[in-house]
Amino acid sequence: MHYHLLDALLASCQHMIAFALTMGLFGQWLLLYLPAARCNITLLARLDVVYGLLAAAIMLAGSARLLWGAKGWHYYGDNATFWLKLGCFSLIGLLSVKPTVRIRQWHRNTQPPSAEKIASLRRWKSVELGLLIPILLLAPMIARSIGR
Ligand code: HEM
Repeated sequence: MHYHLLDALLASCQHMIAFALTMGLFGQWLLLYLPAARCNITLLARLDVVYGLLAAAIMLAGSARLLWGAKGWHYYGDNATFWLKLGCFSLIGLLSVKPTVRIRQWHRNTQPPSAEKIASLRRWKSVELGLLIPILLLAPMIARSIGR
């Protein structure tokens, strides 16, 4: 396959996963915004699994771009904005651990969570969503050699 075509396909793949990941996270945030009695914990737990899978998928797609993209690994290795973007992504990953543990507990329990607990989890999800903004600001900078 022509390497420009491969590069474009890898980019499309990563963009699709990034959109889906954002939608999944936003979907969780919206569910947590509903009044406690109407928050569907089963749906929340399912979205959390999808979100986890999409996070793994974007790591794979991003790594594929590093390995087989047109620019090659050496282009990114000494780019500060690239490492900053990876740092933001890792932080989102760390921040998502507590909500995942909570959501699993809620899913196992028969008692629905209190409004306070739901509001607390919504704040965690808001921070995760907010951290997508620097990622989306940094990604085009990386592509344009800003930070090298
Ligand atoms: C381990 C995680 C990730 C890795 C290794 C990674 C890697 C990369 C690489 C190598 C590029 C190509 C830049 C270029 O064209 O030179 C890129 C672009 C991009 N990434 Fe990521 N990425 C990751 C996570 C994410 C996440 C979580 C998002 C957003 C939700 C994201 C959004 C984007 C976007 C929008 C671009 C296109 C920038 C442009 O061409 O203007 N990436 N990424």
